[in-house]
Formats: sequence, C-alpha cells, structure tokens
Amino acid sequence: MKKIRKAVIPAAGYGTGFLPVTKAIAKEMLPIVDKPVIQFIVEEAVASGIEEILIITGKSKRPIEDHFDSNIELEENLESKGKVKMLEMVQSITQANLFFVRQSYPLGLGDAIYQAKAFVGDEPFVVMLGDNIMDSETPVTKQIMDLYHETGAPNVALVEVEAKETRKYGIADVQTSSSHKLAEDVVHINHFVEKPQPEKAPSNLAIAGRYVLTPEIFDLLENLAPGLDDEVQLTDAIEQLNESKRVLGKVIEGKRYDVGNPMGYMQMSIEYALKHPETAEDFKQYLIRMSKELSE
Ligand code: G1P
Repeated sequence: MKKIRKAVIPAAGYGTGFLPVTKAIAKEMLPIVDKPVIQFIVEEAVASGIEEILIITGKSKRPIEDHFDSNIELEENLESKGKVKMLEMVQSITQANLFFVRQSYPLGLGDAIYQAKAFVGDEPFVVMLGDNIMDSETPVTKQIMDLYHETGAPNVALVEVEAKETRKYGIADVQTSSSHKLAEDVVHINHFVEKPQPEKAPSNLAIAGRYVLTPEIFDLLENLAPGLDDEVQLTDAIEQLNESKRVLGKVIEGKRYDVGNPMGYMQMSIEYALKHPETAEDFKQYLIRMSKELSE
C-alpha cells in the first residue's frame, strides 16, 4: 500500500458566510488572534507528516500565496532592528512544501478537488477543508492517515453535531451493529447525505472537513452531475466511491471549530486567545469581568 504524502486544501470558495469582509479578502486569511486561518491548516498537515501540499485558490486569493512566500523587505527590516524572534517566526512560515492551482469557475467543492488530479497522480491523499480548524493531541489529519495505513480504506473524519446543525454538513448514515465496528471510534458508512434538514438526517455525525481519498475519486468527480445548490459535491462522489470501495468514518479525538461561520470563528478566536501567550492572562481577566457584567 502506498503511504499518504500529499494534502489538498481547497481555498477557492467565496466565503459568503463572512460578507462583507470577504468581498475583497480571502476568508482563509482572516486572523485567529494573529494567525490566518489557512496557516492552522498547513501546520496541521506538516505536523501529520504530509510532504507536499496543494492549495486550490481562486479569485481574490493571492494573499494566501504571499503569506507563505518570503518577504525580503520585512525580513531585512526585522533583522536590522534585532527583532530575532519575529524574524524566525516570519521565516518559519515559508518552510512548508506548497503548490498552488487556481479553480477558474466556482462549480463546487467536488470541482475544486478535481483540480488536484495531476498533483495527486496515483497516490492516496488527504483533503483538508480550510474552514475547519482542529484542536487535538494527535493532529486529526494524522488520525485519519493512521486509519488508512491500518486498513487501506478511504475514510472521513466525523464529529457529532446538534440536530439543528445537520443542514450545514455532510451527514453519515453509519452501520451501528457492533459487528460492523472496527474500533469504538471507527464506523462503516451506509450513505452520506449532504446538508439534510434535521428530520431527514440519518444521524448526528457530520463530516468534519478532513478526508483520506484514493485516486478513483477523480473519475467519479469527472462524471458527476451537480448536486445540492447546483454544485459538484465532493460528498456525492464519496457516496459513489463507497459503492465500490469500503469508506470508513472516524469519530475524531479532539475538537473541531467550523470557522466558516461567524459563531464558530468567534469561539475559535476566544479559545485560542485564552491559550496564546500574548493574550491569555489579560484576556481571561477581561472575560471574567465581562461575564460578571452580563450576568448582572
Ligand atoms: C463542506 C462539505 C460538507 C462538510 C463541510 C464541513 O460543506 O460539503 O459535507 O460537512 O464542508 O465543514 P461547506 O462547508 O463547504 O458548505
């Protein structure tokens, strides 16, 4: 079995959940305290042992490329002022082995992933959605890579969501009988349904923006008709893949933040600020004062 070495990060979407700021700014560049969202994803890939990363970009996304490139002027400036720590931090961002391709027409997540066909070749690979940030001891991408290396089966990361949230995610219909359980947190999948209303949702297990896929997915995507919202849906292609090849679900160890909507973004920002060395203590005191005021 070939080992997973490559990751694909789609970052071509309009970010409509964040208008107006995303009219001219890539949603992937929005900061969580002081770090853009996309950097969390790239760091997770590198921490998981990924060697090559393809970012699928589109209109208004050039700052993503600039962010991971060197900035000689800034580096010289920091060096001349002796700001060594900042210089090291800025330089460390350029270390990942990144490639870029543009999706010319926003035809959906499935179409964005299709742009990775030449990059991926005939190897298994991971897909990491730019608006899902993880907080976990073992990187979530590594968790699903390990499952692939153990089983050879493509798989998706799953998280439990509240009933009212099923309409925001791909939801898995899982086989619950214990004979189909490989481990406590690994399930066989019957079906996937993209963004069902709560009464139509087959479970409360949502696809958490991390996937291990095999190259067959590209043939399926190539011939796939647009689905929900008239977009080529990655979930529909994985549903087809599941017919020919067993697809597994892995309930992740850790916490998933959906930073593609303002509420998830605020939660991530607040919790990260409480851990960030620059802000942790003062911000905690501020939150304590605020919560007292709010409960009065
Ligand atoms: C996409 C997928 C969906 C998945 C979600 C995770 O939806 O289509 O299956 O659950 O990401 O965030 P999107 O957020 O792009 O609408």
